[in-house]
Amino acid sequence: MARGFAPGKCILFGEHAVVYGHPAVAVAIDSGVRVSIEESREWTLEGMPFEPSRHPHISHILNRVFQYDGTPLRMEVESDLFSAAGLGSSAALSNAIGAALQAHINPGQPLDPIALARMGHSAEAMAQKGRASPTDTATSALGGCIVVSGEHVQGTRHVFDAELETPEGLREWSINTVELPDNLSEAWLVIGFTGEMSSTGKMVAGVANLLEEQPELRDEMDAIAKITSAGLTAMSAGNLEAIGMAMDACHEKLRLLGVSSPSLESLVEAARPHSLGAKLTGSGGGGCMIALARDPQRVAEAIEVAGGKPLVSRLGAPGVRLLED
Ligand code: PMV
Repeated sequence: MARGFAPGKCILFGEHAVVYGHPAVAVAIDSGVRVSIEESREWTLEGMPFEPSRHPHISHILNRVFQYDGTPLRMEVESDLFSAAGLGSSAALSNAIGAALQAHINPGQPLDPIALARMGHSAEAMAQKGRASPTDTATSALGGCIVVSGEHVQGTRHVFDAELETPEGLREWSINTVELPDNLSEAWLVIGFTGEMSSTGKMVAGVANLLEEQPELRDEMDAIAKITSAGLTAMSAGNLEAIGMAMDACHEKLRLLGVSSPSLESLVEAARPHSLGAKLTGSGGGGCMIALARDPQRVAEAIEVAGGKPLVSRLGAPGVRLLED
């Protein structure tokens, strides 16, 4: 049996501003998606007959990427990520299935995380009508801390470039990593799920409309870019207090762009007294918030009391990998 695991992700800084060419910073988290694959007499997914049209990411990777025409497969998928919550669960699924399939077809061959990131990105693009940023798939594949930007960002190491022909024309991204100093492991990321699913497409369109009505809000985008840069400097220096302050500041700007929600506000408010910083993460309007904390249990309890579902993670977990039996 071949088994692959790929982590989910959280955006620490730069969501929404990245749509306007500014950098975004994401980290891989401990939770993710596990996929196991073995030969079988029939095609099955989680014990049910596999229907390719209902699983576009899986069928894209099987048919388009690997052009698999071998023996039918029994596929099992387990996820400990909240789905449709901004944690990159579809990207993690694509990467984990890509890893497991590669190990099934070429046992013993090491994984190529960049090839998996590209594969996952093409699956996301196909499933999302040609519009997908490589943030989720690159973070899940490479692990650690990733900066996605229209251009190279100082203090980062360039890993690869991604491009995609979208309905709005060709889009290009530079994918970079940041070395995280050891002392960052003194703090934990506490994710709080509001229980409300959110649509990235709708939230991005809402911000575009708001900017058209109130062009002066473009200043808030530039402010997010400055906060992202300060946050990155704080991360590279291992300055936990400064990372937390940048997270708080980023949240205030995202509120002004109208992407927070009453449930996100209540979880952020509950987490703040016990955290270094807290903010919504991803597209907003529901989904998740994150807090940086030295005592993650306390923050997780505060989030739970406020009605959220907590998940604790290291800041920058390892990327896609094969699992031993
Ligand atoms: O909620 P998520 O993880 O889908 O994050 C979306 C991030 C945005 O900046 C809002 C959109 C994008 O394409 O980068």
